Amino acid sequence: MAGSIDRREFLGLTGGACAALVLASCSTGGTTRVAVSGAEVQAAEGRRRRSNAIVRDVALTAGPATIDLGGMTADTWAYDGAVPGREVRVRAGDVLRAVVTNRLSDPTTVHWHGLALRNDMDGVPGLTQKAIPAGGSFTYEFAVPDPGTFWFHPHFGLQLDTGLYTPLIVEDPAEPGRYDREMVLVLDDWMSGLGTTPEETLGALRDGGMPMGGGGMGMGGSGMQMATSPLLGGDAGDVNYPVFLLNGRRAENAPVLDARRGERIRFRILNAASDTAFRVALGGHRLTVTHTDGFPIEPVTVDAVLVGMSERYDVTVTVAGDGAFPLVALAEGKGAQAMAVLRSGSGAAPPVNAHPSELDGRLLQLSELRADKAVSLAPKEPDRVHQVALGAAKQGYRWLINGRAVEKEADVLKTAKVLEVREGQRVRLEFDNQTTMFHPMHLHGHTFQVVSPDGVVGPRKDSMIVRPNERISVDFDADNPGQWLIHCHNLYHQSAGMHSVLSYVR
Ligand code: C2O
Ligand code: CU
Repeated sequence: MAGSIDRREFLGLTGGACAALVLASCSTGGTTRVAVSGAEVQAAEGRRRRSNAIVRDVALTAGPATIDLGGMTADTWAYDGAVPGREVRVRAGDVLRAVVTNRLSDPTTVHWHGLALRNDMDGVPGLTQKAIPAGGSFTYEFAVPDPGTFWFHPHFGLQLDTGLYTPLIVEDPAEPGRYDREMVLVLDDWMSGLGTTPEETLGALRDGGMPMGGGGMGMGGSGMQMATSPLLGGDAGDVNYPVFLLNGRRAENAPVLDARRGERIRFRILNAASDTAFRVALGGHRLTVTHTDGFPIEPVTVDAVLVGMSERYDVTVTVAGDGAFPLVALAEGKGAQAMAVLRSGSGAAPPVNAHPSELDGRLLQLSELRADKAVSLAPKEPDRVHQVALGAAKQGYRWLINGRAVEKEADVLKTAKVLEVREGQRVRLEFDNQTTMFHPMHLHGHTFQVVSPDGVVGPRKDSMIVRPNERISVDFDADNPGQWLIHCHNLYHQSAGMHSVLSYVR
């Protein structure tokens, strides 16, 4: 079998019994790590996969592309020449089979963000698979268990900040369909092909901050404009971007969303940015929030939502009349915005700097959200509690989890303080942000539930903003064996160390 050859090669290279890429279960200090394609992983996949499941075939090519951002073009990387990549739709219970061809000059992988999928399809190079080499291809195949708004992107270096991202909508066969139309809104911060590259930006951050055209600035940088926001509790970002996009377009050339008065629209909002949280509101409308990271909540109606990197919020609105309404995504703390125009009638388009009063109205709070009963975890005391302390190194641009920076993702098992769990446990993670900046923390392969003071009743999520000095606990059932990353979804923090791994052992 190819697997055993890979394994010998790999063990030969590292000379150890417990390589980073866990191709065979390996022992460490009395426990044995579950292998990424091991019997436990296959059994979990077997439970998800129905014998009559429909297989959805998708072909994806990651490659160079010239993209029109709306009156400005950028030579960059994209999936099949589009930013965002063309939406992929499947149904819960289907099997997704994606042949990924790599036409980039670097290796790549695809990570299926938010899905509880089989571990060896999770797309983390060096941990769950070998990266797909330039010119190579790889077939991902896995059962898709849960409906919701998800997305996929590479898990390799800074590729996410070049335009490689695509919404993945998993339809619910039992969808109550309380809306007439749905629209996906993908938000992004953009520099690729406009001057400074993501690599130069990370280099500048590492060098302690350096003013560059549309480029980076370091933490505590020397008097450059620092993005700050009270809503984020302090620093709002490390990187100055020249452009912000909604569905691949700048505000100057905002996408027009056609609708009719009285129509109910479900917006699926996804923040694909690398360093920017967005505050989203629609002029003349309130937003009824129905889902967080794909999972239903008890609906809450607000004026605005703050969306951290990699988070998704589904909101429903009823089009209030005939007109042209500004749908604004404010780059929080950065003094710029992206927007769309929701058009249900004639009238002048709103100006590029439109600032509907809803942006400063009632903002959704994580603490007010409750998972829908159908997806709420049963009450249970945790079997295992892990602290997840978020830190910054005193010197240099290095971000830490539990005191460690993992600068090479493939070395995560060797470098991180590994968080061990056993299948079947109820696990609690206690996040504790000891830095001056917010971190959108993401766990692979699981959708946790935020623990509120009155019990485990908060929303289900896979990514969550943790503000400076904030502590938030989340619970989940360890029911998807394997080796799973946990990291900050600020791409620059992630690249500068902010990873750990949730490791199933037996
Ligand atoms: Cu979008 Cu490791 O994640
Ligand atoms: Cu972070």
